[in-house]
Amino acid sequence: MARILKLFAIVISILVKCSSCEKVSSSDNIKDEPPKILFDSDENYFHVRAVRDVNFAKSLWVNMDSIEKTSFDRVWQPPYDEQLAPTLRYLKSVQLSFYFPFYGYLTDNITLDIDGRICMKKITYRNEKCNSFVAPLATKLSFRKDESYIKYNDTGNSFVVQWGNVDLYPPFYLEEQNVTMQVTLHENGTIVFVYRQILSSLFAIFDDDIAGTIGTRDSKGYIGNDEHPYGVIALQERILNKDFDVKNGTVIVMSSLPTCNWFTSCELCAISKTNFKCVWCPQLNRCTNNGIDRGVKEWLSSGCVNDHVSSIDYAQKCNKADELENTTIAEPSA
Ligand SMILES: *[C@@H]1O[C@H](CO)[C@@H](O)[C@H](O)[C@H]1NC(C)=O
Ligand SMILES: *[C@@H]1O[C@H](CO)[C@@H](O)[C@H](O)[C@H]1NC(C)=O
Ligand SMILES: *[C@@H]1O[C@H](CO)[C@@H](O)[C@H](O)[C@H]1NC(C)=O
Ligand SMILES: *[C@@H]1O[C@H](CO)[C@@H](O)[C@H](O)[C@H]1NC(C)=O
Ligand SMILES: *[C@@H]1O[C@H](CO)[C@@H](O)[C@H](O)[C@H]1NC(C)=O
Ligand SMILES: *[C@@H]1O[C@H](CO)[C@@H](O)[C@H](O)[C@H]1NC(C)=O
Repeated sequence: MARILKLFAIVISILVKCSSCEKVSSSDNIKDEPPKILFDSDENYFHVRAVRDVNFAKSLWVNMDSIEKTSFDRVWQPPYDEQLAPTLRYLKSVQLSFYFPFYGYLTDNITLDIDGRICMKKITYRNEKCNSFVAPLATKLSFRKDESYIKYNDTGNSFVVQWGNVDLYPPFYLEEQNVTMQVTLHENGTIVFVYRQILSSLFAIFDDDIAGTIGTRDSKGYIGNDEHPYGVIALQERILNKDFDVKNGTVIVMSSLPTCNWFTSCELCAISKTNFKCVWCPQLNRCTNNGIDRGVKEWLSSGCVNDHVSSIDYAQKCNKADELENTTIAEPSA
């Protein structure tokens, strides 16, 4: 396995604190780097804007000092001094006080995972896949230090998760990272990542075989080549391509964009303006991106693959589709 660890010694010392915090210790050496836009573009499901702006990061940072460390419901202790056991899991499931719209699906059960992800469902079993997630840094994280933690708080219209003082697993462990970062899920579907402390460039961990992932994924119900699941927003690829490193003071804001399944009538679906080609399936009474969403199994067995309503023929077909909707019980055979 050929691996080149790209080690950058970056000496910008930034300790981002919440703007409302009273005390800012004298050791906070906040370097005045001018704000820099790293990325600003639509990524199908989201508009993604990434900036490195210490003051913006500070303004978004939620002070979690008063919040208790999370104790995990389900813990499978990893062998720290050996290679990572693939079954390692530290999990804590939480029910949100609000519905969070994720890829157009309302979600209220999530599972915190130490591996830098918020899984968008309740994970109960050790080997259950986390195939739908929000990831500020999805890679194997080490909690071996006593000062490592996850904390979370539900404010009623947002959910904040903070990973504190976590390190990366071998082979990256050799280089201490002591990462502290926050993710906020807003009720309106916006996701905000704030990176407060990273000791050295995260470029070092982005490689093909043990890929750190920054972004989101929704591959629930996915059937097909696991190498190419749908619904993946992998921002680390942009990071490599566009000199967009994640370090102290980086903020990524992902604002959710409309998805096909959000449209509930034939006509609204067919004329919808989204980043997708939405079509209406009369048999399922559902709007879909050509089946590419959680309902792909039903789509494939519905007959809609060859017979759906699109923007081309909606004027003729939507009335008929609505009639069908009133008489058909959409029950696709498995
Ligand atoms: C979330 O979990 C609760 C309790 O298990 C359940 O009542 C609720 O239906 C779940 N929410 C969704 C959207 O499935
Ligand atoms: C945590 O959420 C509660 C509301 O549930 C709020 O009153 C409190 O201020 C929040 N704490 C922090 C540290 O954000
Ligand atoms: C990690 O960072 C925290 C501050 O966030 C600091 O208190 C701690 O000493 C650091 N740990 C190491 C091993 O550098
Ligand atoms: C969503 O909520 C966040 C936090 O309140 C806000 O900053 C953002 O502008 C909102 N986005 C939209 C599209 O309303
Ligand atoms: C980030 O801030 C820490 C102090 O909190 C500093 O030691 C470290 O060098 C900084 N890392 C980068 C990549 O700027
Ligand atoms: C379908 O049924 C609803 C009420 O159940 C009615 O308002 C609507 O007009 C019907 N649509 C068609 C096309 O018959």
